[in-house]
Amino acid sequence: MGESSDDVRALRWEPGCLQVLDQRDLPARETWLKLGSAAAVATAIREMAVRGAPAIGIAAAYGVVLSTLAQANLPESERLSVIHAEIETLASSRPTAVNLSWALRRMRRCVDRNMGEPTAVLAEADAILAEDLTQNRQMADLGAALIEPGSAVLTHCNTGSLATGGHGTALGVIRTAWRGRRVSRVFATETRPWLQGARLTVWELARDAIPVTLITDSAAAVTLRDAAIRWVIVGADRIAANGDVANKIGTYALAVLARQHGARLMVVAPSGTVDMALAYGADIPIENREPAEVWKAASSMPPPAGVTVRNPAFDVTPAALVDALVTERGVIEKPDADSMARVFASRQ
Ligand code: MRU
Repeated sequence: MGESSDDVRALRWEPGCLQVLDQRDLPARETWLKLGSAAAVATAIREMAVRGAPAIGIAAAYGVVLSTLAQANLPESERLSVIHAEIETLASSRPTAVNLSWALRRMRRCVDRNMGEPTAVLAEADAILAEDLTQNRQMADLGAALIEPGSAVLTHCNTGSLATGGHGTALGVIRTAWRGRRVSRVFATETRPWLQGARLTVWELARDAIPVTLITDSAAAVTLRDAAIRWVIVGADRIAANGDVANKIGTYALAVLARQHGARLMVVAPSGTVDMALAYGADIPIENREPAEVWKAASSMPPPAGVTVRNPAFDVTPAALVDALVTERGVIEKPDADSMARVFASRQ
């Protein structure tokens, strides 16, 4: 028991091109897309070829590098305004994960400092990727230490190497806890409608020979009641200043169920996911995606007349349901506005 290869990576830079492991094709095929422009990166983010809050921030950072390369021969006066416009296109690709605007703000500062010089801008994107991996390993150690040896845990969506620069956030905690014999079994929810749990989390865990049981989202309540699950461990797309957590749709339901059944909720996310500019979770913009994503599981025909389909991609879990928030800055137990301000005020 205990070894894991942790060799999955979703993003690769090669000169002049960002390679993205197309997550829409997994686990059936490992297809690598070659993206040569900022617009192509924005499309890959919007269409979910790359997904997961940290991964879309990193991909967008390399999108800015591609923009600087494309604009390198423009006169200085025009160059920056074209790159800025492409940064806006990248920023608008998905609304909820704040890692995207966080990474793009950092890239824009670097672009401006260096007049769009590509080598310096590439070094900044590489730094964002490297820091994400380092932070994930730090969070993994901090989160794993909270888990009692031999625990069953439940996770939602995919928060692994595919969703980040590597190792993962919530799944990074699980990987490290497995190595340390703190986790005995992982229950993974399917995660309708994109099935990130069924297609991606299960694939990552199986590659690392970590025992995993896949359940439908609607089997979570009985599983929490019957399977002695100690922790529900999830990632986040944006965390408000009061500790409210936006994450994949269904997280809120799991948080309520965990409280009902005596399991604890651990949220694992780098500080780039914290948005101290938003006071409450209710202020977080929630992405509503195409109805067809939900309906296509029911029929290839259009829905009957009068049927509408609602497809929010994220929900907000109130801070009061979070037992531990793990970032690379440390663990906050039962986060609230005061504890969040103490840890994160300096960054904003
Ligand atoms: O729509 P997705 O697949 O991008 O949603 C991903 C999630 O909700 C993850 O839980 C979150 O981004 C954290 S990933 C480390």
